[in-house]
Amino acid sequence: MNENLNREVEELLHQLTLEEKASLCSGRDDWSSQSIERLNIPWIWMSDGPHGLRRAPATNKPGYGDQLPATCFPTASALAASWDVDLIYDVGIALGEECQALDVNVLLGPGVNIKRSVLGGRNFEYFSEDPILSGEMGAAFINGVQSQGVGTSLKHFVANNVETMRMYANSDVDSRTLHEIYLKPFEIAVKKAQPWTIMACYNRVQGEYGTQSPFLLTKTLKNDWGFEGIVISDWFAVVDRVEGIKSGMHIEMPGTNKVNDSLIVEAVKNGDLKEEVLDNIVRDILRVVLKAQSLEKEDADQKIEEHHNFARKVVGESITLLKNENALLPISKDKYKTIAVIGEFAINPRYQGNGSSEVKPVQIDNVMDILREEYGEEYTITYSRGYDLKDDNNFTFIEDAVEISKKADIVLVLAGLPLHYESEGIDRTHINMPESHNKLIDKINKANEKTVVVLTNGSAVAMPWAENTNTVVESWLGGQAGAGGVVDVLFGKVNPSGKLAETFPKKLEDTPSFFNFPAEEGNVLYGERMFVGYRYYDEKKIEPLFPFGHGLSYTTFDYKNIAVSDKKITDTTELSVSVVIKNTGSKKGKEVIQLYLTDKESRLQRPKKELKRFSKVELNPGEEKEITFKLDANDFSYFDSKRNMWIAESGQFDILLGSSSRDIRQKETITLNSTQKVPLGFDEYTFFSEYWNNEETREFLKEIVPVWISQFVPEGKTMDEAVFQDFFIEHPLIKMPYITNGECSAEDIKELVKKSSSITFTP
Ligand code: BGC
Repeated sequence: MNENLNREVEELLHQLTLEEKASLCSGRDDWSSQSIERLNIPWIWMSDGPHGLRRAPATNKPGYGDQLPATCFPTASALAASWDVDLIYDVGIALGEECQALDVNVLLGPGVNIKRSVLGGRNFEYFSEDPILSGEMGAAFINGVQSQGVGTSLKHFVANNVETMRMYANSDVDSRTLHEIYLKPFEIAVKKAQPWTIMACYNRVQGEYGTQSPFLLTKTLKNDWGFEGIVISDWFAVVDRVEGIKSGMHIEMPGTNKVNDSLIVEAVKNGDLKEEVLDNIVRDILRVVLKAQSLEKEDADQKIEEHHNFARKVVGESITLLKNENALLPISKDKYKTIAVIGEFAINPRYQGNGSSEVKPVQIDNVMDILREEYGEEYTITYSRGYDLKDDNNFTFIEDAVEISKKADIVLVLAGLPLHYESEGIDRTHINMPESHNKLIDKINKANEKTVVVLTNGSAVAMPWAENTNTVVESWLGGQAGAGGVVDVLFGKVNPSGKLAETFPKKLEDTPSFFNFPAEEGNVLYGERMFVGYRYYDEKKIEPLFPFGHGLSYTTFDYKNIAVSDKKITDTTELSVSVVIKNTGSKKGKEVIQLYLTDKESRLQRPKKELKRFSKVELNPGEEKEITFKLDANDFSYFDSKRNMWIAESGQFDILLGSSSRDIRQKETITLNSTQKVPLGFDEYTFFSEYWNNEETREFLKEIVPVWISQFVPEGKTMDEAVFQDFFIEHPLIKMPYITNGECSAEDIKELVKKSSSITFTP
């Protein structure tokens, strides 16, 4: 930490009155933090986010309607499908530059919440169902933005997975799942990128509001992960402001006309809140505010054209080719002369989701214009509307579309989810596309088998027509340059390399949280525990429509020569895993190599496989490259909620390398010998059998109930060979006083538990 900055912070803190300190703990207005003119403490400007800047004309003006134009990049679903951390870092840089140009100090994003249910209303704004992929994407995004001297707000901390009753819903998630799945992406992003701010969620987690949870904000974020920035509330997420201060919630947003500031002052005066606690909060706020203002403002402009072209490139990297039978794609002159384009999306594109992330784009491309401009001379391009975006049940446009399709060499049907299907604040109730889109696709498939369906949607949809469709291209919500990216992929200018960051199920009933979504009387039971996304489909042996990690290319790749640095490791060793990837097709292309781990023997239930690393590599035809991944104990560990710690357990692990979660190409098995010392974790409810089976605690038992034990010792045998009846074995220790007819007392039990608490074992 910068010495001068620290000194300045201490000096200011010293001069601030109690009222001024309290005032710094809430916003000045809608989009800025409080300033103190008397001491030249500046305010900072915070704006949505995440996939573009939604800057209001002034900090006290609403962010809707007349916000300033900015580059609208693809939303997080699309960004994650690129599986390309370098690309996401560059998106961050571009966003940072736009913030610089429009005077914004903190961009409100990225969102790294897990897509727990396909129905989640904000899925388009989140990266993935997998914690590692979400965390890595988030970290790259933050590092990119912050490299430009602009802060970020990592949101929404944490377990913010439902929009229904979002201001009140309680995420009823067990501690192990919380750590392994929901906290993990935040942990990765905090440790790898130190966002300037973190946005506390609206919802409750294990019964406590995210804006006032000492467990989340102090213990986890600050103490366990070493977070150095400040926590801001989601807009109007604060419930009890004083409790928020005590638990480490720095700034309430937006400003609430000092209503809560006065409560803070009162709490200090009446002794409910220690002034040192408030001082710590203010100290952190000053550090961020002063850092933001002291950074050289680059001579930035919005780089409108450059960013638009870059956004088109990003879309090309994200588009996911789900199916390409009979190699209909890419389009080329030797194969086709007439192209029929069907679907209103071709002229009226859907490019982002509804809600606070809505960017006012600088320009919007559409597929028809781009096609005509770039390919109009070489091909005959026809168009039919196909459906009505405002009326899902209007089927009157289908007939014309069918007629046009019959006359074409190839048909491109642009279909998917209209804007009102996906929105912040509302969960979906089904995963169907409008009936008019599904019917249209069915009919066109029958009219012309060379049909390519290009989907536009921010989250998974059911595709009842998938089997009868040769080619399916997932184009996500591609932002303002989405259309160009689609055209680039269709014509092979860009070889598709996107991979699904979320499983596409065949039907809603197949999904992990089916029975527990959205909420019952405000309580969201995370009943599927850590079996989210592919973890669930693997365990239940359910065939998804398209699996996590899936995505095709116009070329093919071979995996060979898996090698590990050591087949026997400990929890203190680093393991290298390498594999050779070869482009075996005739086109230059990119492959995402995915490394999954399987714990073959474990004390606790574990998913069949879990993603741990990935890497995107570009290869020319015939070219091969060796890719190396490094793994350490963290990758092999699970979270033990009884002992409240991560444990890397001894045993065999399979290392799987594949092109998707269901397309594993190489495998190696290693053995981990743990040296970790783990507390035994025995208490008064631990079974008698467990105490007996442990050599050390057995001695304690022998001391307190020798007579009772002796009746189970077979003749001629020692006490250690005692044979207990099942009935006794499965009783918790606490029952011993009366099971042994009073041979030991409750006090003896307490003493035994105490003595056992210092014993450890190696897992
Ligand atoms: C959203 C946040 C957003 C904030 C400010 C809230 O309703 O949940 O994601 O950053 O509004 O617009």
